[in-house]
Amino acid sequence: MLVGSHSERRYMRKFELWGERQSLRLPFTSAWARDRWVRNTYAQSIWTLRRNTLLAAARHCEVNGITHGYYFEFGCHGARTFRLAYDALSPLHDFTYVAFDSFEGLPDVTGIDVHGDLWYRGQMSTSEIDFKRLCKRHKIPEEKYRTIKGFYNDTLTPKLAAELGPLRAAVIYVDCDLYASTVPVLEFVKGFLQPGTLIVFDDWFLYNGDPARGERKAFADFCSANPRLLFQSFLSNNEHQAFIFLGETPEISQR
Ligand SMILES: C[S@@+](CC[C@H](N)C(=O)[O-])C[C@H]1O[C@@H](n2cnc3c(N)ncnc32)[C@H](O)[C@@H]1O
Repeated sequence: MLVGSHSERRYMRKFELWGERQSLRLPFTSAWARDRWVRNTYAQSIWTLRRNTLLAAARHCEVNGITHGYYFEFGCHGARTFRLAYDALSPLHDFTYVAFDSFEGLPDVTGIDVHGDLWYRGQMSTSEIDFKRLCKRHKIPEEKYRTIKGFYNDTLTPKLAAELGPLRAAVIYVDCDLYASTVPVLEFVKGFLQPGTLIVFDDWFLYNGDPARGERKAFADFCSANPRLLFQSFLSNNEHQAFIFLGETPEISQR
């Protein structure tokens, strides 16, 4: 990949740190300085934002007495958010962590999900073995988490919902980028909502924040299809949008 090329910039956008590739750069060259800035300043600011969002989730659960339940993460490539979530939530809360991912990267990208050449099948792939290795290295106890491997259209079944129930979700982190992926996720998590469940959308402003695409559209469609489910906006920054599930209001459908 050429330094400074269009495709490289796109690659950086998904925060694949340059340091994780074996790029050899001589100290004090402009390329070296830029790599350093990307690693230490740019990428760090993104992880700080994510960490703060997860700490806000911990605080929300603490002040509202949500002491146990699931932490669901949809889109787990690299296990970075998963590890941040464990660090932010586990000191105060006894949650069970579930990582839902194909562990083969993105599915086919079609229709409104096409974003130039940014997304393609197989992109952002971390194998299940590598994911578990990263969790182990991070000292996440094996009994505290599980992985659900496969594409959501195949794995998010009523059978799986029954197996995971009746425990509800405390925090749901949606980081699967695509509209087509977020639709089955929201349908699946519906049965795990309890008053206070926090849903965090990681990619709210993808596609230039176009409400007719991505996670935004999936959530808007979900709310229209389920008008009795009430959500309160909780947190918003330049990356994330989080909502608190308030509960189900029977009267809303009669208005
Ligand atoms: C942006 S990455 C997740 C990054 C991760 N949260 C982190 O720690 O940085 C998106 C992930 O969503 C997964 N994904 C997207 N659509 C999916 C689908 N339909 N089924 C299963 N996994 C999917 C991909 O495999 C990829 O790992």
